[in-house]
Amino acid sequence: MGNISKLLLLFSLQYCCFIACGALPTIFTSISIDESALLAIKSQITHDPYNILATNWTKEFISTNYFYGFIPYEIGHLKRLRYLHMQLNALSGQIPKSLGHLTRMEELILYNNSLSGPIPQSIFNISSLRAIDLMYNFLNGTLPEDICSTNCLAWAAGRLDMMSSGNSSVLEVIEIGVNEFYGCLPDDMCFSHPNLEWLELTYTQLSGQITSSLSHSRALCRIHLSSNNFSGSIPPEIVNMSALQVLLLSNNSLTGELTLPSSSNLSALKTLDSHRNLLSGSLPPDLGFRFPNLEVLNLGSNQFSGKIPAE
Ligand SMILES: *[C@@H]1O[C@H](CO)[C@@H](O)[C@H](O)[C@H]1NC(C)=O
Ligand SMILES: *[C@@H]1O[C@H](CO)[C@@H](O)[C@H](O)[C@H]1NC(C)=O
Ligand SMILES: *[C@@H]1O[C@H](CO)[C@@H](O)[C@H](O)[C@H]1NC(C)=O
Ligand SMILES: *[C@@H]1O[C@H](CO)[C@@H](O)[C@H](O)[C@H]1NC(C)=O
Ligand SMILES: *[C@@H]1O[C@H](CO)[C@@H](O)[C@H](O)[C@H]1NC(C)=O
Ligand SMILES: *[C@@H]1O[C@H](CO)[C@@H](O)[C@H](O)[C@H]1NC(C)=O
Ligand SMILES: *[C@@H]1O[C@H](CO)[C@@H](O)[C@H](O)[C@H]1NC(C)=O
Ligand SMILES: *[C@@H]1O[C@H](CO)[C@@H](O)[C@H](O)[C@H]1NC(C)=O
Ligand SMILES: *[C@@H]1O[C@H](CO)[C@@H](O)[C@H](O)[C@H]1NC(C)=O
Repeated sequence: MGNISKLLLLFSLQYCCFIACGALPTIFTSISIDESALLAIKSQITHDPYNILATNWTKEFISTNYFYGFIPYEIGHLKRLRYLHMQLNALSGQIPKSLGHLTRMEELILYNNSLSGPIPQSIFNISSLRAIDLMYNFLNGTLPEDICSTNCLAWAAGRLDMMSSGNSSVLEVIEIGVNEFYGCLPDDMCFSHPNLEWLELTYTQLSGQITSSLSHSRALCRIHLSSNNFSGSIPPEIVNMSALQVLLLSNNSLTGELTLPSSSNLSALKTLDSHRNLLSGSLPPDLGFRFPNLEVLNLGSNQFSGKIPAE
């Protein structure tokens, strides 16, 4: 990540009204805890060419930096933190588990760093979390890939079960693509995230079937699963989702026919891209009717046969 021309660090600390937080001694205690946590963070940032941490550290927004270093465990002491935006830096090391203590956090944005290791499960316990964006890092999962074919839940217990075990009804965006996960999607992945709108999981090394439980997130409007190694067929329940606008499944190992559910309203879907898969059979003859608002349809590089539907 050495040559990033424009780096941005947006680290915003939004404090609740101090008066609402209780009596004075509590305030001072909180402030001193925050202060020591902030100093710990500062001490872990090893490269700060603009000396931002020495000057504008207390500002609500700090931006345009070249930060190298680690995210320290002590960040978990900043209990009132609501937005942690540290994207587009060169932070490395692991995401500390202590982030799970930030029970007011609404946005965790760490994309384009060099973070590695697993996503700590604890962050999916934060019920106020609305957006998680960890794309473009080196985050990984540690269970052997074949565990997936026998027992998805085992993998879930190790890594991605954040998506099933968390009980966040507000989570809207999960963007964790372009990392090095492997294993499969937890079977019950989206049961507890009814408001999830955006699931971005491209360019990881996930495999196994695309779980139909995604359809439990009735608000999902974008599902990006391209460039993994998903196999099996495309669950009709997913194509059936009434809010779904963009479904990207290209460059996987999906097989079977493209079956459309018989009784359904597919009017929201604008983009369906499943090129570079192993789909076969004939295309549904009523394809055009069923997707009245389709703007992009890419089914190339598959093994379809038969006629291209006239409609
Ligand atoms: C600190 O931030 C303010 C407002 O964003 C800016 O005007 C000022 O130049 C910054 N100070 C330093 C030393 O970067
Ligand atoms: C994030 O990193 C990727 C890969 O290095 C790069 O292609 C992309 O442009 C970066 N994103 C931004 C917003 O800089
Ligand atoms: C995951 O990342 C960590 C930290 O970089 C590394 O030590 C570990 O070997 C990686 N695990 C796998 C299975 O790639
Ligand atoms: C999530 O929260 C529950 C209940 O508060 C707790 O029992 C569990 O250990 C937490 N899980 C993680 C991974 O922090
Ligand atoms: C999630 O939280 C809601 C309300 O807080 C509760 O009714 C529900 O039982 C919880 N679900 C799980 C799986 O913990
Ligand atoms: C297809 O997916 C694999 C695995 O993620 C990736 O390495 C490769 O670059 C992708 N190919 C294209 C053309 O995107
Ligand atoms: C993708 O999965 C298939 C079986 O589902 C397997 O045969 C193949 O080796 C996998 N490819 C990669 C690159 O892991
Ligand atoms: C598709 O959605 C309709 C209406 O929402 C529902 O009645 C039907 O059972 C669904 N079909 C599948 C295969 O999910
Ligand atoms: C399909 O959905 C659109 C938009 O959500 C709605 O206007 C229309 O009435 C629905 N049609 C059916 C047959 O459910």
